[in-house]
Amino acid sequence: MTADDPALPDREALLALAVREITAAWASFDRPRPKEAVLDEALLQRLLDPLPEAPGDPAEAMHDAARVLDASISPARPLYLAYIGSTGLATGAMASALASTYDVNLAADAAAGEFLDGQALRWTADFVGYPHADGAFTSGGQVSNLTALVAAREQALPGARERGLEGRRGAVYCSREAHHSVTRAVEITGLGTASVRALEIDGDRRVRPELVDAAIAADRAEGITPVAIVATAGTTLTGSVDPLAALADVAERHGVWLHVDGAYGLPAARTVAGAPLFAGLERADSVTLDAHKWLGVPKSCSVLLVRDDGALQASFGHRETYMLHRGDAHNPVDRTLEYSRPFNSLKLWMALRVHGGAALRAWIERSMRHARRLADVLDADPAFEILHRPQLSALCFRHRPDGVPGLDEHNRRLAQAIQADGRVYLAPAAVDGRVCLRVCFVNFRTTDEQVDDVVAVIRELGDRLTM
Ligand SMILES: Cc1ncc(COP(=O)(O)O)c(C=O)c1O
Repeated sequence: MTADDPALPDREALLALAVREITAAWASFDRPRPKEAVLDEALLQRLLDPLPEAPGDPAEAMHDAARVLDASISPARPLYLAYIGSTGLATGAMASALASTYDVNLAADAAAGEFLDGQALRWTADFVGYPHADGAFTSGGQVSNLTALVAAREQALPGARERGLEGRRGAVYCSREAHHSVTRAVEITGLGTASVRALEIDGDRRVRPELVDAAIAADRAEGITPVAIVATAGTTLTGSVDPLAALADVAERHGVWLHVDGAYGLPAARTVAGAPLFAGLERADSVTLDAHKWLGVPKSCSVLLVRDDGALQASFGHRETYMLHRGDAHNPVDRTLEYSRPFNSLKLWMALRVHGGAALRAWIERSMRHARRLADVLDADPAFEILHRPQLSALCFRHRPDGVPGLDEHNRRLAQAIQADGRVYLAPAAVDGRVCLRVCFVNFRTTDEQVDDVVAVIRELGDRLTM
C-alpha cells in the first residue's frame, strides 16, 4: 500500500492493465469491425448494482470499464460516419491521461502550463491562417460560441454584463442552417430566441449576405442593436461555408462583430482544396474551432480565438478575495467562462507537435477527397440522389430505388438497418424536409478503399429493404 494513494494497493499493476486495455482498443480501431460488440448479461446486471460501500477489485473494475467502452459507439472507428466524430488520436489520448494526472489549475496562475496554452493558441491560429492568437481553450463549440457572443454583446450593448439589457433590444444574424449552439448562446446572453435572425441560404446552402445587410438595416430602423453576425464555416448538416469576405464587408459597413463558427470546418482553412472557401477569415472578430472534430483529438477540446483580448476581459474580468491578482496581471479565468477546466490545450499541442501541421492538413484533404469520391459514385448511380455537392467532407444523399413509394420512410429505415448491421455507422438527417442519409468524413483512419465499402454496404442493405 502506498502512502499517497492508500486506496490503490498496486498502482503500477493497474497502470499496466490500463495500458493493455488502451493498446487493445487502438488495435481494434485500426480496421472496421464486422459487428458492434454487445455487453454480456452479467456485466449488464452489474451496471444495476447499488453504490458499493466496501472497496472493489481494481482490476475487475478496469476490465468492466473497458468492456462497457468497447460496447459503446466510438467515433474512433474508421467507418463511424455519423454526426461529426473525431479520430481519437493516440497522441491526444496520451496527453489527456498526462493532463488529468497533473490536474493543473488553469483558473489561477498555472506557471509553465500557461506558456504551453499560449503556444497551442498560436499554433492553432497559424494552422488555420487567423492572424490573432488571443483567446482560450474551452470544453466545446457550444462554450466557444457562447463566450464569443457574450463578448460581442458587451461590445454592442455596453454595461449589459452589469446592469442587464435595461430594455435594450439586440439581434444576432446567421444562416438558417447555423448550429443550434448559436441560438442557445443567444438565449443565455438574455437577448432571447426571438432575436436570432436565421436567414435564407443560396443554392450552395450559404447564408445570403445581402439578406444579412438588409436585416441589420431593418433592425437599426426599429431601434434594435445588431450584436453579431455569426458566419458558419462548415454547417453541421452539409458542410457549407458561408461567404466570409462578403459577410466581413457587411460587418464592417455596420460596425458589427463578426464571429465565425468553424467548430467543424475551420481545420480545412489552409488546405489546398479548402482555402478558397475561407477567404476573409482573417477579418473576423472571433472564431471557434473544435479540435475534437476534424483535428482528431479526443473530446473535449475547442478553441476560441479573438482579435481583441480586451473584449474577453471586459466580459469576464473580475476581482475576488479568494484569487488575488498579481499587480495589474489578469488571471486566466478573467478571459473565460469556465472556472475549473481540464488542460485541453495539451491534447492539441501534443498532436501538432508530434504529427506536424502538414500531416494533419494532408489527412483533412483526404477526408474531403472521400466526400467527393462518394458524391461522384452516388451521383453516377440512378438508385441514389445526392442532395448537394460536398464543400468540405459532409454529404447528404438519398437511396431512391425504382418503385419505392415513401422515400422519407425508406431512408429512415435504411439508416436504422445500417446501424443495426454494424459495418458502417451513419445517421439519418433531413435536407429541406427530405429524409436522407448523412455521412461526414473526419476520421484519419478511414482509407480510400473503405469509401467503396461504404457504398457496397448501403447498396446491399438498401436492396434488401426493397426486396
Ligand atoms: C458548426 C457547429 N458549431 C457548434 C457545434 C457544437 O459543438 P460542441 O458539440 O463541441 O459543443 C457543432 C457540433 O456539431 C457544430 O457542428
